[in-house]
Amino acid sequence: MAITILAIESSCDETSAAICRDGAILSNFIANQKVHEAYGGVVPELASRAHMQNIVPVTDVALKQAGVTLSEVDAIAFTQAPGLIGSLLVGSQFAKSLALSLNKPLIGVHHMQAHVLANLIEEPRPPFPFLCLTVSGGHTQIVRCDSPTQLSIIGATIDDAAGEAFDKSAKLLGLPYPGGPLIDKYAKEGNPTRFAFPEPQIQGLDFSFSGLKTAILYFLQNGGKANYHKEELLVSEDERKRFIEENLADICASIQNRIITILLNKVRKATKETGIKHVCIAGGVSANSGLRAALQEWGAKYGWNTYIPAFQYCTDNAGMIAITAFYKYKESAFEDLSVTAAARSEW
Ligand code: KG4
Ligand code: ZN
Repeated sequence: MAITILAIESSCDETSAAICRDGAILSNFIANQKVHEAYGGVVPELASRAHMQNIVPVTDVALKQAGVTLSEVDAIAFTQAPGLIGSLLVGSQFAKSLALSLNKPLIGVHHMQAHVLANLIEEPRPPFPFLCLTVSGGHTQIVRCDSPTQLSIIGATIDDAAGEAFDKSAKLLGLPYPGGPLIDKYAKEGNPTRFAFPEPQIQGLDFSFSGLKTAILYFLQNGGKANYHKEELLVSEDERKRFIEENLADICASIQNRIITILLNKVRKATKETGIKHVCIAGGVSANSGLRAALQEWGAKYGWNTYIPAFQYCTDNAGMIAITAFYKYKESAFEDLSVTAAARSEW
């Protein structure tokens, strides 16, 4: 008999619901919250309120788009962790209420595992074992996947996430939040090798981005003229602004290029250490056009088979929660109603 799952994602500032039937995503509806744009970042209290307003209509749309009624749903899945606690609580309470009222099993999903398994939604699907570079606003990880439910983190950031590196760089350039997609946009017109930002020397498969942020700060304070490592206010505020304005595309392309080489050098190291040649990317930053193109180029050069989810499954979405829940359902990995959301959680 077909397994139909209704999944809810509400970990940050996207309210999303999806329907999955036997591993096929029938609908994946996402409501973005515009309310945060004016504040330069996600405001947790506003995010929770917007989730409360959106969650019922969003679920309704997902059901209608899939042509599925609540009585046909076999299980309710939700993002249990990690994320903003107020946002997670809205989704988890809603899912628990539905599961209770429909008398259906409840499946709690780890948001970062779901980003990885977004690669299993559509063809071509990576065979196991595969490696996944998971890059989002809060995480940067290299994950080894031996089965849909056996995932291990073999590398992670020791400070900022790749998405933060994009967003904080964009902020230094005076771009609005979230800056990642804007850096991507301007980088398309720029020269990626014009400015050479330093690459951190971190042992093993771990990442670091905080040094890059500082280098960019000094670089801009110096109007692009002086040593990146030296904090000297060599130019006036006006000169700095003019320098950014006149060189925005090249600065964005150079920042993006450095972030990408930091990421892919570690992926290369991971493929060498594990012998695994199937490489996926996941998470919001995997929407970056430069990273997507570079992954394919490096794959062709080093003999990797590469996999990239469709855009709608890269940034936060309930489709990835639904596919993860589908595999958990097959293992009867259900929660009871005492389950709680958690802002932080190891796997
Ligand atoms: O996975 P996600 O949607 O939310 C989290 O779980 O964090 O990732 C959001 C991050 C933000 O930092 C955003 O700037 C970044 O993904 N992002 C991008 C692009 N699209 C989203 N970064 C670079 N280029 C993009 N095209
Ligand atoms: Zn995410």
